[in-house]
Amino acid sequence: MPRGLFITLEGLDGSGKTTQIKRLAQWLEKHGHAVVQVRQPGGTATGDRIRAILLDSRSAPLAPITEMALMFADRAQAIAEVIQPALDAGRIVLCDRFTDSTEAYQGGGREIGSAAVLDLHRLICGNLQPDLTLLLLPGLEVSLARARRRNERVEAKSGADEGRFEAEQDAFYRRVWQKYRAIAAREPERVVLIEGDLTIDEVYEQIVEAVSERLVTSEQSA
Ligand code: TMP
Repeated sequence: MPRGLFITLEGLDGSGKTTQIKRLAQWLEKHGHAVVQVRQPGGTATGDRIRAILLDSRSAPLAPITEMALMFADRAQAIAEVIQPALDAGRIVLCDRFTDSTEAYQGGGREIGSAAVLDLHRLICGNLQPDLTLLLLPGLEVSLARARRRNERVEAKSGADEGRFEAEQDAFYRRVWQKYRAIAAREPERVVLIEGDLTIDEVYEQIVEAVSERLVTSEQSA
């Protein structure tokens, strides 16, 4: 059986990934594809517990290296439990964040650098690479405002505190933003950059176009 397709969505907090991933999953299923959705951090029972530690403001101060190690622990579990079995079964895996997030947030934002992240990815994740990465980068100010509003809503609704990252200063997010752009420039084949302040529908159209192209290529090579 041919390996499935591994698609990741990336972007700053508040870039609209969650909305887009839901629509993309529906579109793929409508076209007859078996889809598995997973998010990072989280996506497995163990991963959800790691996510709670990582995102809760009460975990501050968390050493950057601890934060990176927890991201990789979560990812290793998701690969073992969900991602690799689904790819082996020929499914399309849609992953909300993957190692590009660690490179952007811990490598860039926390200034650990790319090399350590990429080394750990080789060691812990067997260097598993997405076939396609959709990188949503609306304007920085727009993203930050959305992320902060969303966090207030989550807290008001469920009492869950997921605000540790959103509490970061703009300089942190600027570094994350720059690292994301550097990743896109380094790997233009894999990473499709969807930038600017587009409407939800405009972003969705670009996503469907990129995914359709990749589906054709993978069917031709199967
Ligand atoms: P999200 O589920 O809303 O995207 O939030 C996850 C947060 O965790 C977001 O602020 C980005 C951050 N994060 C990292 O810093 N490094 C990582 O490797 C991942 C997967 C997420």
